[in-house]
Amino acid sequence: MINKKMASLLNEQFGKELYASNLYLSISSYFENQSLEGFANFFIVQSDEEHGHAMRIFDYLHDVDAKIEMPAIAKPPDKFKSTVHAFEETLKQEKQNSKDIYTLVKQSLKDNEFATHTFLQWFVSEQVEEEASIKRILEQLNMIGNNKSALFLLDKDLSNRKATTE
Ligand code: FEO
Repeated sequence: MINKKMASLLNEQFGKELYASNLYLSISSYFENQSLEGFANFFIVQSDEEHGHAMRIFDYLHDVDAKIEMPAIAKPPDKFKSTVHAFEETLKQEKQNSKDIYTLVKQSLKDNEFATHTFLQWFVSEQVEEEASIKRILEQLNMIGNNKSALFLLDKDLSNRKATTE
């Protein structure tokens, strides 16, 4: 069992994860259009992971006998000024998502929703990793500046990324 407010907040988070999945598809397409296939791959994997996060919530809500309401998903941006800008937008998205997860954690404690509190711990750890990995790439991009050979090497490196979560 889960209280209505907690279920509704988790349902909203389900929608936010789907939005993130679409945003990262949009960023992947931006990179595809520039033949930066490693970056495009990185964001396909990122998008799959976000879909996986949404599905974790989907499954959990069913496990605790709550109903899923399919949320309207806003259109994500599809224009980015540069590689750095796309990663800045990604970091912004992840920071906001961390805040959203913390709000859910606070609510679970306030309402004595202990099972949900435990469920959310996976997301807390995941956000630390996600922010760190995006920050690292952003720092590398800032180091690279206009060096096309270095960008090519980073693109090659990112083509190796494979999904690590379901
Ligand atoms: Fe589902 Fe990137 O957080």
